[in-house]
Amino acid sequence: MLARYADPAATGRLSLARPDDWHLHLRDGTALRAVLPFTVAQFARAIIMPNLSPPVTSAAAATAYRQRILDALPPHAQFTPLMTLYLTDRTPPEEIDAARESGVVGCKLYPAGATTHSEAGVTDVRRLDGVFERMARAGLVLQVHGEVTDPAVDVFEREAVFIDTVLAPLAARHPQLKIVFEHITTHQALQFVLGGREGIAATVTPQHLLMNRNALFAGGLRPHHYCLPVLKAEEHRRALLAAVARGERRLFLGTDSAPHARRAKEAACGCAGVFSAHAALELYAEAFEAAGALQHLEAFASHNGADFYGLPRNRDAVLLIREGWTVPAKYDYADGGELVPLRAGETLAWRLAARHEAAQ
Ligand code: DOR
Ligand code: ZN
Repeated sequence: MLARYADPAATGRLSLARPDDWHLHLRDGTALRAVLPFTVAQFARAIIMPNLSPPVTSAAAATAYRQRILDALPPHAQFTPLMTLYLTDRTPPEEIDAARESGVVGCKLYPAGATTHSEAGVTDVRRLDGVFERMARAGLVLQVHGEVTDPAVDVFEREAVFIDTVLAPLAARHPQLKIVFEHITTHQALQFVLGGREGIAATVTPQHLLMNRNALFAGGLRPHHYCLPVLKAEEHRRALLAAVARGERRLFLGTDSAPHARRAKEAACGCAGVFSAHAALELYAEAFEAAGALQHLEAFASHNGADFYGLPRNRDAVLLIREGWTVPAKYDYADGGELVPLRAGETLAWRLAARHEAAQ
């Protein structure tokens, strides 16, 4: 095993067990068909976020959405969508058992109003204690968008305030509940996850490892760098990168790739979301290489998430090659729209080789 990592910087080749994306937005309809091939080219499985409009709030809706994803797969694709339910104030506890039976792996907690399509989310988590109890018993994972929505709280503080006022008490009330703190952005979140009880983990996006909040304003307003939780100050980015570079097992890959049409991003009130599925693994490789930690990329991308969810690790492999390529300025998106990917028009150092190459 270790020989693989002998010196990827010198050999320019890094073989990894096939990775999974533990936090992904695929949308629906023609948007789904536009973005799904990017994820299928890189990942064996992905957790599919349920914030459609209307949201995926029942086991039946999750099953139907999974089928639409399977129907949209490119020919011969091997890809497993892992479904999650969108919690609302009125999620019935019985729905949890139905979800478990239909293969749903978790439930997503969006505080109402926190982000895209979260209007139907939860206004007070205490109302859901019965649901969380059922989830713990059924072994379903709670996936948390961790930001308070109080407009009086500074947008850069919303994650830290959420930990103290919502997440820490919730985790303490439900000691058996498995929790993934999604797309963490601050050293407070790291401290909560790494210092917390068993059964707590976090996903980390490529943008929060590679950029700080200056990237929102570099030479002007940069709507394609805007996502929620918003990019934070450099000290937080450094803390996140240092933690993944240490090989922390509670941290794993979740791109939060969130496509929006260019016209919805470049607008007076632009949508939150960074599209990164076109180069997800390459972007993470860049971050890990910058931290001198390519030897920890495989566990982060391909082991830690599966282990936390209690799913088998993938047996096939992918190959990253140190070979520059230029990201297109845009991709086609739904309804004649365009999608501007992260690093549009720029050159990336790593390239994911085709699957058959990786298997050799
Ligand atoms: O930036 C984001 N975009 N954050 C989210 O939480 C939701 C996502 C989306 O669905 O566009
Ligand atoms: Zn998300």
